[in-house]
Amino acid sequence: MRAPLCFQEEHTAIMMSEQGSVEDHIRALIAQQGRISFAQFMASVLYEPGVGYYADPARVSESGDFFTSPAAHPAFGVLLTVQLHQMWLALERPEPFRVTELGAGSGLLADDIVGFSDSLDPVFASAFAYQRLDRASQEFSAGIPGPGIDQDQPIHCFLSNELLDAFPVHLFQIENGTVREKFVTLRDDHFEFQLDEISDPEIAARIEPYLSELPDGYESEICLGLTSWAQQLSANVTSGYIISVDYGYTRHALYAPQRSLGTLQCHYRHTISADPLARIGEQDISAHVDFTAIDEAMAASGFEAIANVSQAELLERSGIDKYLERLIANGLTQQDVQPNQYALRALTEPEGLGRFRAAIHAKNTPAHGIPDVARRTAALFDKEVLPALDDDPRRVNLFAGAHGSGDQTTGTWGELFGE
Ligand SMILES: C[S@@+](CC[C@H](N)C(=O)[O-])C[C@H]1O[C@@H](n2cnc3c(N)ncnc32)[C@H](O)[C@@H]1O
Repeated sequence: MRAPLCFQEEHTAIMMSEQGSVEDHIRALIAQQGRISFAQFMASVLYEPGVGYYADPARVSESGDFFTSPAAHPAFGVLLTVQLHQMWLALERPEPFRVTELGAGSGLLADDIVGFSDSLDPVFASAFAYQRLDRASQEFSAGIPGPGIDQDQPIHCFLSNELLDAFPVHLFQIENGTVREKFVTLRDDHFEFQLDEISDPEIAARIEPYLSELPDGYESEICLGLTSWAQQLSANVTSGYIISVDYGYTRHALYAPQRSLGTLQCHYRHTISADPLARIGEQDISAHVDFTAIDEAMAASGFEAIANVSQAELLERSGIDKYLERLIANGLTQQDVQPNQYALRALTEPEGLGRFRAAIHAKNTPAHGIPDVARRTAALFDKEVLPALDDDPRRVNLFAGAHGSGDQTTGTWGELFGE
């Protein structure tokens, strides 16, 4: 029996007489323990069953708090399908070809990928067994696999978009040259931070190489959940790939002296704030991903890093440059050209989604990076009907947003993160 598909770190469960708000849960935890780590706080805020932030599937949407690449344009899913197809070919066309998306949220990316697989290659589509999992869904808690999915069979590819930035993190601060941890506690009924000795030696070990360069008062985050995550993936992969698309840096860049307030950010109704103790359960909390930590965790579980490129490069290698041209050739109406053009550009915008990273790890596979299939897909897109922006309510209309009839997060990445 292989490891269950249950990707979560240990969660402190407490007995509540009835389902209270997420804030009630956290107050009870603190009453029990005196204080909690920020990772415990974040896990509860985001994932407390039934009441956590992600229990409401409308959070990631135009009417919610923020949007992600699949919502910008179906091309994101289409071009990932092109890469999944390459992996299927590299693995010598397994049937079934099992792909599991982690943190699938509303399922929009899954629908785009599965929807396009048939146009791409009907043989591939008939082999394709796509499973979506999300920690916030009831199926996830119950460990129920998707339709037609046999949980005892190995997975060929795990795929995620903006999953790892939502993993709980510990917070630390440097005080007199020592790494100290920021806990969450209550004083006079108000949540506040408390600085104390670190709860896990790994926190100091990761910062140690950078300590001499970092000023007093420097704060940042550490995700300690990646090792067990990679182990769980590895237990389910005999030969296959992990694709992780997210925002983040190498460790050296993440813990650079100029990022002195860390990268923790909260999203509420398409605005960004830096106070995670406000609007508990009503705002998202995330942190930039340490891609070095992902490589290390993956290596310890038997995976090799075979690519780490920007989202822009991933999509360019998969054919995004010809996408609009092909949409027009396939009959896109005049009035739809600008919204599609705008959304496609947003996916590769160097100061926006285009600067996300796509990391690919592999275990027992014919190693390759990200194949440049742009020329081949351009020819393929000639024959096929490519999906254009549609009126799926999970999609955002970035063009309308930028031209006055929407409410989108404003500002470039640099403005938002002081770079
Ligand atoms: C920022 S949202 C991204 C949703 C979607 N991938 C997208 O691109 O719109 C992060 C999602 O990851 C889910 N999640 C967080 N930790 C998870 C875990 N350990 N396993 C599966 N899903 C998880 C959350 O419930 C949430 O739906």
